[in-house]
Order: sequence, then C-alpha cells, then structure tokens
Amino acid sequence: MGHHACNPMRSTAAMNQSRQDNSPHNSPTRNMLRLGDVIVDRIERLAAISEEPGKLTRLYLGPAHKEAAQLVGQWMRDAGMEVRTDAVGTVVGDYAGTSVDAPVLIIGSHIDTVRDAGRYDGSLGVLTAITAVEKLHAAGKRMPFAVQVVAFGDEEGVRYLSTLTGSRALAGRFDVGLLDEVDHAGVTRRQALLAFGCDPSAIAAEARDASKVLGYIEVHIEQGPVLEAENLPVAVVTAIAGATRGRVIVTGPGGHAGTVPMALRQDAMTAAAAMILAVEKKAHKEPGLVATVGIIEITDGAGNAIPRKASFSLDVRSASDDVRGATLVALQQEFRQIAKDRGVDVEIALTYEAAAAQCDAELTQSLARSVERVGHPVRTLPSGAGHDAMSFKDRIPFAMLFVRCRGGISHHPDEYSSPADIDVAARVLADFVENFGA
Ligand code: HGY
Ligand code: MN
Ligand code: MN
Repeated sequence: MGHHACNPMRSTAAMNQSRQDNSPHNSPTRNMLRLGDVIVDRIERLAAISEEPGKLTRLYLGPAHKEAAQLVGQWMRDAGMEVRTDAVGTVVGDYAGTSVDAPVLIIGSHIDTVRDAGRYDGSLGVLTAITAVEKLHAAGKRMPFAVQVVAFGDEEGVRYLSTLTGSRALAGRFDVGLLDEVDHAGVTRRQALLAFGCDPSAIAAEARDASKVLGYIEVHIEQGPVLEAENLPVAVVTAIAGATRGRVIVTGPGGHAGTVPMALRQDAMTAAAAMILAVEKKAHKEPGLVATVGIIEITDGAGNAIPRKASFSLDVRSASDDVRGATLVALQQEFRQIAKDRGVDVEIALTYEAAAAQCDAELTQSLARSVERVGHPVRTLPSGAGHDAMSFKDRIPFAMLFVRCRGGISHHPDEYSSPADIDVAARVLADFVENFGA
C-alpha cells in the first residue's frame, strides 16, 4: 500500500523542523520515559496546532489538520513506520510484521476536533497507538502481524455534517455522493480534498481487504463520568450507540416586527423553537435515548424583522437502533404538525446515520486481559459517544479502551486526562499488541 493518494507530507520544512525534535536517537521512548509522559508531551504539541487563536479548533482538511498530519506523520516515521496520507486525508503508518504478507492489526483514532475543543479527544488514541509501535521499534521487535497506525481526519463531522470519512473509506463504506457535500463556505468535500493534495478518485482503493485485517483497536477518553466516579483509570468498551444527524430548515413569509399582529404571524424562529423543545421533550420520555440541538441559525436575521428562515441541527442517539428509528419518525411527524399549525414550511434532511455497533468479544477479552496484566480491575462500559470504530461494524472486528477524564468533560477546553491514567492506557495497548494472538 505504498501509493501516495495524497501528498501533504511532502513539505520538507515541517518534516525537518520536527525531525530535530524527534529524531530516533533521542526519541523519548529510547530514554525510557513513561509512555504516558511521551504522550502528554505530544498532546500539548498537537493542541498548539489550531485554526483559531486561543482555542483548539482543527477541522477536516483545514490548514491545522494539514500541519497536525505532518507532525503525526513525523512521529510515526520516527517510530519506524512507513508513512503515507491516504485519499481522504488519513495519515497511515505501517510497521511491518515478520513476513510481507502478514495480516494487519489497525490501531488509531482521529486528529480532527470540534470547535474550542479539548486536547485529548481523538489525539490520545493516535498517540497511544504510536507509542505502542515506538516501544516495539525501540526493542527492535517485529510481530507475526503488521501494525498499521491511523490518524483519521474527519471523526467529528464539524466542517461537513456527515462524518467518519476516514474510517468509512477504510471499511469500504464511503459514500462518494458525499464528495459534493458543501461546508459553510460552499466548498465541496471534493474541492477540499483536492486542495489538501488528495485524489478523490483513489478513495475506493483505500478499502481494506477484511480477510487480511485482524482487527481495529481504539483508545479514547471516556467523555463521561463513570470511571472518575468509580476511581478507575480505564474501561473496556462493550458497544457504541447508534446515531442520526440531520438538519431542519423552517421557512415563513417573515414581516415587519412592528406591523404584523401576533395572531397573523408565521414566524420561522418560534416554530423552530417549538420543534426544538419537542426534541427535548421526546428524548426525556425515551429511556437511554439522547437528542441534542447544537446549532441554530437565523438567515438574514434582524431585530426588527420576523425571521423568514431558521435552521437547526439534530443529533439523536441510542444503543437501540429501533428506538432511535421510531423516535426520528415521531419527531418528523411532530415537526410537520408544528409547521402546519404555524403556517410555515419545514424541510428535514437526515444527513448521517451510524448504526449501534457491538465491540468484538474476542478482541475485547484480550484487551481485558491486558488491563489485568497491567494491574487494574476490568470495568466494561458502553459508549454514548460515536467513534471511528463504529465504521467497521460487520466488516472488521474492533475493540475500544476508555480512559478516565476529569468530570467526564469533553468537547470542551477543560477536557483532561492525567499522565498516570494515560500511562496506564498506553501500557495496556502496548501489552495488547505484544501479546496479541499469543
Ligand atoms: O459526536 C460524537 O459522538 C463524537 O465525539 N464525534
Ligand atoms: Mn472522539
Ligand atoms: Mn469528539
């Protein structure tokens, strides 16, 4: 898989600059620092790469993504991997096994973030994966399988509403129709990929031959409060909740704020507000289901004009695909009724759908044994958050390890995982890789 379907790695300046910092002879693991300390140092360096001053925002195929991809690629190279960037912008590091046709174990996560993000979501999984290989490389060790580290660039789905571009491409599930999806500035995914140096026509070739892949492993912060409440550093994930994302657009005739009597108004904003409250009310009634409206926009809003166009995002999740599906049907009916009652039009676009995904039992048990060998009790937990791992459902077996994060805070600058917990996670992953298949 040596083809270069994308070439943002070419800029030698960035590579040379970071090589001095990371050349193998003084690579931190060679000085046998705790794995966690190496990761924390790199977390801080990655967190400094943002497209917004004073906060961490690194969106898919943006300038910060390119810079972060180059730095991560350099760390992969220093850990003895062959590095390339694939056709959708994923940085792929290959650490060969003992034979050229050895099967592959894929480990990694994502390096894109939400806006004003925390520094651990995604990056932690990529960096623990790199240190697991770095430890093999430092010991001159090869496994009877190849290890492929991946740094996906579009797990959050902030620039474009649909998401999991990188992992879906690997799983052979990328919908080429999404190449025409436009971002806020009207830039299509195709244009953004070409500007990043990628070749959209090579996306299909990124699909992995599942018969040659032993599994996918992802380390990720829990993004919830359970591990902290139970004073545990890590947990093994059982399943990932399914999710639907969409966008609802409400339009009306608008009008003058001073002249249209209340009884005659067809107000797009208040209709949207009624729909948003209906989302919240419905979610409270469905045990285990969560629904969120994270964005509301008024087009050409003015304080003295009745809003003509209001749009809002919709994010609905549940461990049960049936419950999620039934909730979406009910909500769409309710939106249409509210629109009818208020004399406005409503357009509902469900743009992204990921089914609930069970983690592979065998891989999960192996991961649990590594947790025990590293000296910690095994706690299993479902994931309410989505992850790249879910793209591999029914294609490639996957398992995930959660790491405690303070207050369960995530998608927020206060997100934090301690160096000690990160060191536990890194040692669990390293143990998993070194004992895999044994
Ligand atoms: O939205 C999610 O669940 C993930 O953090 N992208
Ligand atoms: Mn994440
Ligand atoms: Mn996230």
